[in-house]
Amino acid sequence: MKMTQELADLFNDQITMELTSSVAYLQMAAHLENEGLSGMGTWMRIQSDEEHAHALRFLQFTLDRGNDVMIGAIDAPPRSNGSIADVFDAALAQEQKVTASISSMYAAAQASADVLALPFLQEFLTEQVEEEAAVGEIIDRLRLAGDDGPTLLQMDRELGARIPEEE
Ligand SMILES: [Fe+2]
Ligand SMILES: [Fe+2]
Repeated sequence: MKMTQELADLFNDQITMELTSSVAYLQMAAHLENEGLSGMGTWMRIQSDEEHAHALRFLQFTLDRGNDVMIGAIDAPPRSNGSIADVFDAALAQEQKVTASISSMYAAAQASADVLALPFLQEFLTEQVEEEAAVGEIIDRLRLAGDDGPTLLQMDRELGARIPEEE
């Protein structure tokens, strides 16, 4: 059964937003790797891949519901030339934007009583809580580390051990 056009538009916007996130994280990965933090770069590359996978899930759901897919313009990523903590702050801001966006999709799905879309969106919202918490923890630890090279390199090793999730 087709989604209302209003909800389908929101799904299309979300596909674009997930792809935009994916590109933004790839830019952050490149910046971190240039700073000698290849582990954090690996972490960001995995993050980028996950956002791409999210885009594909929103795209597939839209197609499965019989609605049209129309991908929008992907914004150029913001320049990441600040401190390492600034890079992760930008990642958190990106995730908060995504959480707000999916929350309004959930409200729109409720308004049109689209019970098929609700569990799909709920799954993403639950994941957003975990993502925000994970990035928030990294930011807290980066603030504690400050400019301490050995601690930053230790964190770099830890983050570089991230394993891609099975989708
Ligand atoms: Fe995502
Ligand atoms: Fe995300």
